[in-house]
This record gives sequence, C-alpha cells and structure tokens, in this order.
Amino acid sequence: MASHWEEFYATHLPPSDFEDNRTLLKEFCDRHNKCGQRIALITSGGTTVPLEHNTVRFVDNFSAGTRGAISAEYFLEHGYVVIFLHRLKSLEPFTRYFSGQKFMDMLELHDRGPNTTITVKPDSVDVLAPILASYKAVQEGGRILYVNFTTVSDYFWLLRAACECLAAYGPKAVLYLAAAVSDFYVPSNQLPTHKMQSGAGVPNIQLQLVPKLLAPLVSLWVPHAFVVSFKLETDETLLISKARDSLNKYKHKLVIGNILQTRRSKVVFVTPDNSYEVVLSREQMLNGMEIEDTIVSNVVLSHTDFIQSQKY
Ligand code: PMT
Repeated sequence: MASHWEEFYATHLPPSDFEDNRTLLKEFCDRHNKCGQRIALITSGGTTVPLEHNTVRFVDNFSAGTRGAISAEYFLEHGYVVIFLHRLKSLEPFTRYFSGQKFMDMLELHDRGPNTTITVKPDSVDVLAPILASYKAVQEGGRILYVNFTTVSDYFWLLRAACECLAAYGPKAVLYLAAAVSDFYVPSNQLPTHKMQSGAGVPNIQLQLVPKLLAPLVSLWVPHAFVVSFKLETDETLLISKARDSLNKYKHKLVIGNILQTRRSKVVFVTPDNSYEVVLSREQMLNGMEIEDTIVSNVVLSHTDFIQSQKY
C-alpha cells in the first residue's frame, strides 16, 4: 500500500516549470559538488493551499521569509553555496533591505530633459555599497540558486527534486527547513474547478492532514545529510516537548524552536542530547544584530562536528 506521502505525489501534478527547475538544481549541485563545497538548502516562506483549481481563494501559512532570507546571507558568509527554495514574492537575501518605499527613497532624480539621470543619495551609499558588493560577489560566483514555490504541492515536488540532487553531497549538505508548511489541505480531487459562488451559500470545506515530508526526507532521500527543522508554536509550554517529539520521530539532528511573537529575539536549540536558548538583548537588537547570525554560526559548528564524526 502506498504511504500517505507517496499518495500525495500520485494525486498532485508537479508545477508547470518543474522540469526547468529540476535541470537548474541538478546543474547547480553537480557544479559545486565537483569543488568539494558545502551546500545549504534553505526553505523559506509559507505555502498556500488552494480552495479552487482556478484559484481565487486559498489558505496561507504565516511567514514573511525573514528567517530564511537572512540565514541565506550568513550561510554564504560561512562559505556555503545555497539553494534558496522560497515562496514567490517573500523576502529574498540582499534585496530584503530595500523592500517597499525604502529603495525609492534612496534614489535621487536629476531631471534634465533628455539627459535625466538617477543617482543614489550620498547618505544611502554607505548602506547600499556593502550589500551590493556581497550580492555581486555571490552572483558572479554563481553561489546561490533561487527556486520558488507558491502552493504546498509545488513545495513538495521541488523539495524532493532538490533532495535527489543533494544526496550526492552526503554529510556536506545542510537542510535548513525554515518554511512554514501547510499542515492541512483540500485534496486536488475534491477541489471545485471554478471560483466558489457566494450565492450557493456557506461552503463546506473539509481539510485533511498534509503528510509530513520530514519522514521520507530524513530516512530515504538524504539519509547522510545534516537536517535542521524549525518548530513554530504560539504556546510556550508546548515548544520544547513538541521539538523533542519531532526529533524522536524523524531522527534528524536538530530542531530550532521559536514562538511567534518572540521569534526575532529568542530561539531554542533542541538536539537529541540537550537544549539551550539563543537570546538577543534589546540593546543588541537596537545595534542591528540579527539572531540568524548566531543561529547560523551554531548550525555551522554543529555541521562541522557532524562531518568530522562521519569520517571515522
Ligand atoms: O519567515 P519569518 O516571518 O521570519 O518566520 C519564520 C518562521 C517562524 C516561519 C520559522 O522560524 C519557522 O518556525 N518555520 C517552521 C514553521 C513550521 O511550519 O513549523 P511546523 O511545526 O508546521 O513544521 C515543523 C517542521 O516540519 C518544519 O521544519 C517543516 O519543514 C516540516 N514539515 C511541516 C509540514 C509538513 N507537511 N511536512 C514537513 O516536513
């Protein structure tokens, strides 16, 4: 009998650009593996669950993509190459500093008819220059691959394709699963084709459980990789026990727990042997420190130990 996750793949089509993305993933992974690089697959942003095939309405999962976008920059700083598997239009590394009006406000327009020019305001150059330099260096080195998803089923197909390419890295691969993945969905064969009509009365929507991908990911797809999952809760009393349940169930290396309201200043690392908090003070936050700096440094240290332990 097919498992729950196999059944999900059997009943949900891949996204239309799936083969293109699979080729890009393979090319990226093969190229960097030849050079002995460490690689991080970062998932980021929330998945959606459509309520109609021609989707007007959908259920979304909370995540701006901040954790994933910032973490990607720190993994790059530590010398990793990065696959950034993210929700379309969520925050991305480097450009995250310039979303909304911020970017426009950094520019100056010199309107001189046909000789019009645009410059960066002098006081913004100091901000933009180092970020632009890092961005250009990463782009020119081809060290990051951006792949995007919208629905939970896109995410499923792309995550498995990425894992198939990462398996060859063995312990050199880190999977850093920060995306907020839907836990409930409406199976494809139960979706109406067209937009639901309010005139038809109150809709009766029956959600079902999404299979947990961590199970096949850890045991079948990348059994030698260093897998880090995140756990988001809103009730503090549940966080550590839920994180530990997840470790016991899926047998991966680390769960990083966070509470919705305090996720920017506090996380808890839960490993099979212990748990400890990483906390940023108010002063550190005011000085522009980002908790992802410490999170990623700690993950990199544990990953290094893990690689060493696999050699003996
Ligand atoms: O982007 P930000 O606004 O900065 O917010 C960051 C964050 C709070 C979203 C992030 O830090 C975080 O906690 N991400 C994980 C949220 C989540 O989905 O937790 P979960 O309890 O639903 O899932 C736990 C783990 O199981 C996740 O690593 C997920 O990849 C995995 N999972 C979840 C559902 C599913 N069907 N299959 C899975 O494998």
